[in-house]
Amino acid sequence: MTAPVLQPIGPFDVDLLAELHRRCFTAIWDRPWNAKSFADVLAMPGAAGEIVRLGTEPMGFGITLQTFDEVELLLIGILPEARGRGLAQLLLGNLLSGATACGARRALLEVAEANAGAIACYTKLGFTSCGRRKQYYPGPTDAVLFEKALNSPRIDDKSRQ
Ligand SMILES: CC(C)(COP(=O)(O)OP(=O)(O)OC[C@H]1O[C@@H](n2cnc3c(N)ncnc32)[C@H](O)[C@@H]1OP(=O)(O)O)[C@@H](O)C(=O)NCCC(=O)NCCS
Repeated sequence: MTAPVLQPIGPFDVDLLAELHRRCFTAIWDRPWNAKSFADVLAMPGAAGEIVRLGTEPMGFGITLQTFDEVELLLIGILPEARGRGLAQLLLGNLLSGATACGARRALLEVAEANAGAIACYTKLGFTSCGRRKQYYPGPTDAVLFEKALNSPRIDDKSRQ
């Protein structure tokens, strides 16, 4: 089987991201994102993202936003035909490693409470629930907040100086 390849998202990927989003996010609680939505988010300081490919074919993507020592997972989506092969686990692991190397000590995300597959994925990667936002998503559907401690050295750690 072809090995997956991760590629950092660049400014010219916004149309591809909008297309991947349209095909990945089809649940009642999902909100639409167009190319401008992606361009706006990727222009924010601390934004990072990767596309995962099998061969040359894009199969999914993930985007994070880091503010000082916290990193938020904004989106992760894998095309339906490529699910169950560990691609989300690979993407998320790589994005969190990158954030950790940049000083993140805590990862956060929110997910629709009915999104059992995503919740299973986050739980497997060590996230635990830490809150709830009532009727946050269309449906209306509650959002569950998840967090994970990351093993960054403290940014003010004297032993690193
Ligand atoms: C959630 C999503 C990203 C998972 O992608 P994926 O590539 O299939 O996930 P992985 O194959 O890396 O799975 C990693 C682990 O998550 C769990 N998992 C993933 N999908 C699951 C499902 N549908 N049911 C149960 N467990 C699941 C499993 O524990 C799996 O590990 P295992 O296969 O060793 O048991 C994908 O289903 C998706 O794109 N969904 C639509 C978009 C979405 O809801 N994104 C998340 C909210 S932003």
